[in-house]
Amino acid sequence: MTGVSHSFVHDALPMRVVFGPGRLAELGQEVERLGLRRVLVLGTPEQEATLRATADGLDGRAAGVFPEARQHVPAAIAAAAADRARELGADGCVAVGGGSSVGLGKAVALRHGLPVVAVPTTYAGSEMTPIWGLTEDGEKRTGRDRAVLPRTVVYDPELTRSLPVGLSVTSGLNAVAHAVEGLWAPDGTPITAVMAEEGARSLLAALPAVVERPDDLDARSGALQGAWLCGAVLGATTMSLHHKLCHVLGGSFDLPHAETHAVVLPHVVAHNGPSAPAAVAALGRALGVDPGAAAGALADRARELGAPTSLAAIGMPRDGLPRVVEAVLAQPYANPAPVTRESLTALLEAAY
Ligand SMILES: NC(=O)c1ccc[n+]([C@@H]2O[C@H](COP(=O)([O-])OP(=O)(O)OC[C@H]3O[C@@H](n4cnc5c(N)ncnc54)[C@H](O)[C@@H]3O)[C@@H](O)[C@H]2O)c1
Repeated sequence: MTGVSHSFVHDALPMRVVFGPGRLAELGQEVERLGLRRVLVLGTPEQEATLRATADGLDGRAAGVFPEARQHVPAAIAAAAADRARELGADGCVAVGGGSSVGLGKAVALRHGLPVVAVPTTYAGSEMTPIWGLTEDGEKRTGRDRAVLPRTVVYDPELTRSLPVGLSVTSGLNAVAHAVEGLWAPDGTPITAVMAEEGARSLLAALPAVVERPDDLDARSGALQGAWLCGAVLGATTMSLHHKLCHVLGGSFDLPHAETHAVVLPHVVAHNGPSAPAAVAALGRALGVDPGAAAGALADRARELGAPTSLAAIGMPRDGLPRVVEAVLAQPYANPAPVTRESLTALLEAAY
């Protein structure tokens, strides 16, 4: 939202959020509340112990555990999870983990229409969106379908204490990127603007403490609460240049998802800022700086938190930059500032 328009449509997505340390113990009640009796618990192999403990805590309402989620939801794994759900006669899924786990739950929902309950353990925000993704033959397809939006989300900050510091920072900056693009989105509203500013503020305030004391429950709660709001903004608005760029960079060069967001965001804020004064004013308030200093302060904050600061550092080949420029220019999308071959090349060179 640029701040000049007072004309909008606000179409709220349904949302039941159960938030707080120890709330995982209420997951069984939440599953029961939805009338589910045989849920499939999904997540990554790295979090298998958490998945099994979660299933054990469901008082006989878990039909099985599927610990094979992978980044970007490979179609073959989605099909295997959907088959397992059918074999077990599952009537719902509980996705425990980050965007990869929630993405797998959404893929099963897309196939069978089963309701998803999400228990997020990163700051990616997928649990708040009706956006699904599936990757096949190196190509990622995405779409929006309200059937995949989790019916209930249980946020227990205790589960995020084990999230490694590096991933906490990049995942947190990934969430801030949802908020920033929500602030200048063509379909932003006064409600999404409030959620975006508060989400960014809460996360940016909590991350330094998370880095210093990864076990600190107050810091973890602040970060997760910010991630919830940023995710809700992602679900409610249309993303622009930043998400488009990260999608192309990640998809074409297999760059790590959250790290790519962390590197690119300050450069996009610098590029779009002059055309989105209300957005940078809100980001400035979230960072505690003047609007004109928002892009620089964001870059400084990312560096202080130990996030990677260049595309080169996360594996981008320099000779791939022109391909990114062409891919981004090939598909028009809303963005507050004009995107030209020259400005995009300059942005990518600076990020490189
Ligand atoms: N559809 C959407 O709306 C949406 C939104 C954001 C991200 N995404 C997708 O989500 C994916 C990225 O998600 P992500 O950044 O959350 O990473 P991820 O889900 O891939 O998790 C990264 C790693 O961290 C581990 N992990 C997660 N939580 C942990 C914890 N608390 N303790 C220890 N280890 C933990 C996981 O097991 C995994 O090995 C991308 O594919 C992205 O496209 C989708």
